[in-house]
Formats: sequence, structure tokens, C-alpha cells
Amino acid sequence: MIDPDGEQRVLITGGAGFLGSHLADRLLAEGFDVLCVDNFFTGSKRNIQHLLQHPRFELLRHDVTFPLYVEVDRIYNLACPASPIHYQRDPVQTAKTSINGAINMLGLAKRVRATILQASTSEVYGDPEIHPQREEYWGRVNPIGIRSCYDEGKRAAETLFFDYHRQHGLDIRVLRIFNTYGPRMDPADGRVVSNFIVQALNGEPLTIYGSGLQTRSFCYVSDLVDAMVRFMHADGAPTGPINVGNPAEFTMLELAETVIRLTGSSSTIEHRDLPHDDPRQRRPDITVAREQLDWAPTIALEEGLVPTIEYFRERLGQAEPSRASGAGMGARDGA
Ligand SMILES: NC(=O)c1ccc[n+]([C@@H]2O[C@H](COP(=O)([O-])OP(=O)(O)OC[C@H]3O[C@@H](n4cnc5c(N)ncnc54)[C@H](O)[C@@H]3O)[C@@H](O)[C@H]2O)c1
Repeated sequence: MIDPDGEQRVLITGGAGFLGSHLADRLLAEGFDVLCVDNFFTGSKRNIQHLLQHPRFELLRHDVTFPLYVEVDRIYNLACPASPIHYQRDPVQTAKTSINGAINMLGLAKRVRATILQASTSEVYGDPEIHPQREEYWGRVNPIGIRSCYDEGKRAAETLFFDYHRQHGLDIRVLRIFNTYGPRMDPADGRVVSNFIVQALNGEPLTIYGSGLQTRSFCYVSDLVDAMVRFMHADGAPTGPINVGNPAEFTMLELAETVIRLTGSSSTIEHRDLPHDDPRQRRPDITVAREQLDWAPTIALEEGLVPTIEYFRERLGQAEPSRASGAGMGARDGA
């Protein structure tokens, strides 16, 4: 447990999203006051419904591309659609959310002298030549592709964080998040874990793009949230960037077969063409997180898939479409 110790007012942008809502749960349990700011582009009230009556929880509908004036001690900047289906639906808004959103939240942090954490991403490494990825690797990113609004938006946000740190002495934390999964993922967001589970539960074929030999690593949400909170409160105010994810690497085929087995589904596997700019492999080197945050993931893939499958079982049949959903589903990977 972390003692809020007089610095208890926390802002979470994107707090009604998948990760943001779990972070809100954790911070409320630790005794913090949580202000959740969200424009519900991909997030949902369903994710925070259980918090609306909590005496230390507040919700503000607001788009971070516009300035925000509130009094807080710490900011977790998570606002940004994270799956390709969502962020490619309005790429200009995606870039604005990352870049203008970062400028606005950094401006707020500067004004109120708050510590600010950026939810950055493994996508800053692009399609990497170095494997696994270490923080000092600068990445191999296409600046003009269909994923660029997200990848380059997040890279520009990192630049802004470090310039505010150097120029204005801001207390920053830059966290590079690798694929994370768990309950409250949007069933229609096209991310590979949610897609496979939904397809398996519906008895549909699991769609794999390309050969299925491309690899990803999957971190369970509670592990990720734990790393976020540890980083925010770490001794010595490390700026990062710090990779956080689960280094255990799986091919898409292995993931598909595991999901079919755990759901007890009779689904088959179907191959489709690989989309543009899909990275072939991704795995975090988490040495820095181990050393600086004393953090390592604790939940193995199969263990985390069980509650995730349970969540989707309950969700199916009561879907509430988010503003950004509506595109066709495919087993793409993102964020
Ligand atoms: N889940 C992952 O695997 C992963 C991996 C790497 C990075 N991240 C990053 O973590 C953050 C949270 O991701 P998530 O998986 O919870 O995605 P999510 O889509 O569930 O959550 C994003 C939230 O941001 C909100 N939002 C989007 N644009 C906004 C705007 N302009 N103003 C206010 N709110 C806005 C959405 O409505 C949503 O609630 C994102 O910044 C994402 O890039 C996630």
C-alpha cells in the first residue's frame, strides 16, 4: 500500500477506458481521491459504473485536446484510443489526443506542480530490428503509414514530456506499455486477445493475419497497474522511459490454440492477409523495471485468460457500442 500522505488528488485521463478504470479501482483502494476525465471516445460508463457512488471518485466528461483547469497532485495521462480499429477511425483526432492532449496535461502539471505519468507504448519501437526491445533502442517507425497517427503521436508525446522535464523541471514518468489484456477490454476493439476470445465464445473461426508466427507478449492488467503505481511513487523520481510488459513471448497461433482450449470452443483457425505496418515481433526487456521499480509480472498468460474469458462470457449479449466501434472485427494487434 502507498500512503497518499497529503498528495491524494489524482487525475486519470482516459479513466473510463480499460486500463484507466482498473487504475481508478487500485488508487481508490489505496485511499486516493480520483478525478476521472474522459470523452468516452472508446471508454464506457460501464467500466466505472461501480465507482460512480464512491465518495472519493469524480467523473468529468472532457476532451483532453482542450485545456483543463483542475487542482491535482498527480496525473496519469492515459487518454488515447489504443487499438488500431479505434485509432485509425479518426487518425487526426488520435494525433491531436496524443500531442495536444500531452501539451494540455503537461501545462496543467506545470501550473499545479503535479507529477505526471505518460502511458506510452511499445509502438514507439515500430517494427524493431532489436529483440527484445530495450529502452535505449530508438525504434524503426514509419512516419507516414496508417499506424503513424498513434505511433508518431506517442513518440511526439514522449518528446514533449522530456522537454517539459528539461526546460521546466517537471517531474515526469514515461512508461512504455506492451500489450496488456484483461476484463473490461472492449469486445469490438479488434485487439487480438479480445478478438480471439469473442470469436471462440461465439464458435466462429479465429482470424489470424499472416502466418500466425509473429509474436507478442501479453501482460495481465493487474500487473500493469501495479507497475504504473510503483513508477509514480518510485524513490529517486526516475523519469523513464521504462518498459512494462510480460516478457513471455507467444505466437499468434499459440495464443489462438490456448484460447480455444480454455474456452472449450470448437472454433477453427482462419488465415488472412497481413495488414500494413504490422510488427513481426514484440517483447519487452524489463531489466530497468526490475531494477528501478522492483517490479516483474506475476500472472502467467493462462492464469490471466481465465478471468478475461469469464468477463467476455458475461459481456456477450449485452454489448453497448462505443462511439468509435462499428468497424469490422479482425485479429489485429495494437497499442
Ligand atoms: N492496453 C494496452 O495494451 C496498451 C498498450 C500500450 C499503451 N497503452 C496506452 O494506455 C492508455 C490506455 O489504453 P487502454 O487500453 O485503456 O485503451 P482504451 O481505449 O480502453 O482507453 C482510452 C481512454 O481514453 C479516452 N479518450 C480517448 N481520446 C480522448 C480524449 N481526446 N479526451 C479524453 N479522453 C479520451 C477513451 O474514451 C478511453 O476511455 C492509452 O494511452 C494507450 O495508448 C495501452
